[in-house]
Amino acid sequence: MPRETIHSCSRCGFCSPQWHGQCPGCGEWNTLVEGARPRAPGEHGRARPGAGRVTAGRREAPVARPLREIAPAALRRLSTGVGELDRVLGGGLVPGSLVLLGGSPGIGKSTLTNMALGHLALAGKRTLYVSGEESAEQVRLRAERLGPGALAVPILAETDLEAVLGVLAAEAPQACVIDSVQTLGAAELAGAPGSVGQVREVAGRIMQLAKERAIAVVLVGHVTKEGGLAGPRVLEHLVDCVLQFEGERERPYRELRALKNRFGSTNEAGLFEMRQGGLVEVLDASARFVAEATRAPGSAVLAAMEGSRPLLVEVQALVAPSELEQPRRVVSGLDRNRLALVLAILHRHGRVPTGGADVFVNVVGGVRVDEPGCDLAVALAVASASRGMPLSGTPRACFGELGLTGELRWVGHPERRLQEAAKHGCRAVIAPPDSGPGACEAPTLAQALALALPAGASRPHAVA
Ligand SMILES: Nc1ncnc2c1ncn2[C@@H]1O[C@H](COP(=O)(O)OP(=O)(O)OP(=O)(O)O)[C@@H](O)[C@H]1O
Ligand SMILES: [Mg+2]
Repeated sequence: MPRETIHSCSRCGFCSPQWHGQCPGCGEWNTLVEGARPRAPGEHGRARPGAGRVTAGRREAPVARPLREIAPAALRRLSTGVGELDRVLGGGLVPGSLVLLGGSPGIGKSTLTNMALGHLALAGKRTLYVSGEESAEQVRLRAERLGPGALAVPILAETDLEAVLGVLAAEAPQACVIDSVQTLGAAELAGAPGSVGQVREVAGRIMQLAKERAIAVVLVGHVTKEGGLAGPRVLEHLVDCVLQFEGERERPYRELRALKNRFGSTNEAGLFEMRQGGLVEVLDASARFVAEATRAPGSAVLAAMEGSRPLLVEVQALVAPSELEQPRRVVSGLDRNRLALVLAILHRHGRVPTGGADVFVNVVGGVRVDEPGCDLAVALAVASASRGMPLSGTPRACFGELGLTGELRWVGHPERRLQEAAKHGCRAVIAPPDSGPGACEAPTLAQALALALPAGASRPHAVA
């Protein structure tokens, strides 16, 4: 039987069976969101895992027990066969868990999930791919690119939530992909699929079934123009794991990161390349990026950490006289505020003023670096571009965080960064004090600049 709907104010919590443009509770406009009416205590519904047992029609009162008395659950994971995805998930999909996979349009979300289900199907697992966005024929076209496993996956092209839940309950797959959570809709809710109330209801109902039947579910989600996950924030709280698939569409590299993970670390990241045959894991990323590094003025190699894995990436900078009153600061693969901070420190403590120049900084290959250890590479790349001189001993690798007083601060895993740099022919890595043997330690930005850009060298293209 369809459940009644209720409209609740997202500000003050006021509830009403009717929708109001202005909340009668707090007077705010457009704050009422439609949702299914919560069940009253004692009202029959699906029992949640851990809820009291039903004996002779009566539900026993639930009893709290010390954790030591709870039998430890054996966490059996389903390997997706995509190594980088498994690593980011913490070892594979956990039965009964919900994973939200977000990413910009066309980045490869459907390709990745098709591939994962294909591998699982080949390994003899029961799988289901629910497509609300594409027709079954469109999904088949993609699967042809991805190989025989992908073609073995059963597909359901459907947008009605009840119908999807019916098939999920009947088929009881071990792994299921819903592509996407924004396209499914509950008929009893008036809002269009993708609206806050609908997304909340869809995710909640699927989660309930997933927990009951131990189905590992991947919900594909859209992202907003700003790059955040679309839909209500509650969705991110509800799911066990939030993965973000990012990269530049024009470039082949794609990066998968965990923003939240109840079953593993959020430090891990996986690198892929989009090819004709689907997404291919990039295992020798450092070698590629170092080989491609230009060694020209404005290029520095950053020995970064992507979770527990060291990765060498090229940071490129261009500094050009600006015609604008407010010079441009364009950044790709880094935090914009971090660049502003590095430019200020460079000016104050490195005597490299860029106030009148446009500054462009790019982490090559569409990779995103989200760690403070990138400061020194940005500073050296900008200084090198500004002075029109390549860094000495290129490819010159470095890492370290810049303090506001111009000091170079220690960052995590220096020995692994140094090993990776040495493995790929980058010797004399400029690093903060206490980084260990093999590092060219520089306590301050000024000393790092003196090592990388020795005074007296020519300045063919210096920017004033
Ligand atoms: N034959 C091909 N060879 C290489 N890459 C391809 C090929 N066909 C498609 N692609 C790539 O796959 C991308 C589409 O992948 P996919 O459909 O998995 O993305 P998506 O994130 O699911 O997109 P959407 O948000 O539209 O659902 C395209 O942008 C294109 O880069
Ligand atoms: Mg898609």
